Amino acid sequence: MPRVYIETYGCQMNVSDSELMLGVLRREGYVRTDDPAEADVLLVNTCAVRDHAEQRVLGRMGELKRYKRPGDVLGVVGCMAQRLGPKLLERVPQVDLVIGPDGYRGLPELIARAREGERAAEVAFKDWEHYEDVPAVRDNPISAFVTVQRGCDYRCTFCIVPMTRGPERSRKLADVVGEVRRLVDVGSTEVTLLGQTVNSYHDGEHDFADLLRAVGGLEGIRRLRFTSPYPTDFTPRVLAAMAETPAVCEHVHLPVQSGSSRTLKRMLRRYDRERYLDVVAALRAAVAGLALSTDIIVGFPGETEDEFQETLSLVEAVEYDDAYTFKYSVRDGTPAVRIKDHVPEEIKTERIGRLIAAVRRVARQKNIGLVGTTHEVLVEGPAKRGDLLQARTRTNKIALLDGPAEWIGKYRRVRFTGTTGSTFTAWPVEDFAVPVRPGGEVAWQ
Ligand code: 5AD
Repeated sequence: MPRVYIETYGCQMNVSDSELMLGVLRREGYVRTDDPAEADVLLVNTCAVRDHAEQRVLGRMGELKRYKRPGDVLGVVGCMAQRLGPKLLERVPQVDLVIGPDGYRGLPELIARAREGERAAEVAFKDWEHYEDVPAVRDNPISAFVTVQRGCDYRCTFCIVPMTRGPERSRKLADVVGEVRRLVDVGSTEVTLLGQTVNSYHDGEHDFADLLRAVGGLEGIRRLRFTSPYPTDFTPRVLAAMAETPAVCEHVHLPVQSGSSRTLKRMLRRYDRERYLDVVAALRAAVAGLALSTDIIVGFPGETEDEFQETLSLVEAVEYDDAYTFKYSVRDGTPAVRIKDHVPEEIKTERIGRLIAAVRRVARQKNIGLVGTTHEVLVEGPAKRGDLLQARTRTNKIALLDGPAEWIGKYRRVRFTGTTGSTFTAWPVEDFAVPVRPGGEVAWQ
């Protein structure tokens, strides 16, 4: 049987797309391998949101080409493939095929052509493409990503995604529900719905509120998550659906990008600082105990020190549980390229340092306050280090606990016994009460 090795960079949708590609190739008899040395087809699923992501992939291509034996096929797929298209074939001579996010159906054909010695790029947008008939091959059956919307029609001036993933389109609600039913049959209990602006989901008939209720109402779905929502697409209907669907988890990733209304305007975000704070308040009113995380860009063209200070103060005001922070990266073809006033690299570096410190301080304060509280966790697998298990709360907090491997994939109640400031140590509460220093950090014994 031919073997395929696939390496995935970037967002959860790329993880989901890799699962679809494995689905396309399984129909052709391929099996997956984790060892590039034994693969017949090597694929790199790429990200294009920042230059850094692309540089990493180019570096990695230099290493992967060493595994390419005569007859093997090396492909670059995903957003960087879409962005650069045939230019990638020129730039990296060992690359045989380049396919963008709408072209994965063409993988078998392009692989066959590559074996005939033809190098090709497939980067046409297909606004109907949902890979509806392709059964995704998932790594982890317990917790599944389900793409419900592809592409993006928003025009944030910093963002390359509309150019790499094409126009926004939603899958039919019945198709999503059908897929989740099949997931339940194979043991999934947690589902994360994916879309670039997932809460703007609309299939012509049903909106995101309908989708949350339909998926969250399925017997066997214990946890329902979604990412990433757009702040102004939390309609009263969506808020009500979140509040009234017990499976919907108490965590929302709510990208803000900046705390300054002036910067947000240049970014062409559809809200200002006050409106964003209103959305945060509405979400917190709808969902008790809600955890919030965000994405923030520093050094967007024209960002002044005062504007940056507003981002810092927003982090304090919202009290995020977590934030992903990025230095602005110029993306060719995006509108922000034309904003002249670029922030020097040293200033970006200095600002991101202050931002990370603020995010950590706020998160740490919150997390220390959670020591001693009890939570339902889903045990996900062995922890990266040591012989503990890694588990996750509904609020998306990571906890490490001691327990048998049989717990993997199961739900347990635990008490947080300590925190590093970002992650927790925990004891199963069925076992026995653990002494906790009030408000303090209890070291793992
Ligand atoms: N530069 C820096 N960060 C970016 N992001 C998107 N485009 C850029 C860019 N040009 C960040 C945003 C987005 C996350 C996925 O990546 O914060 O929410």
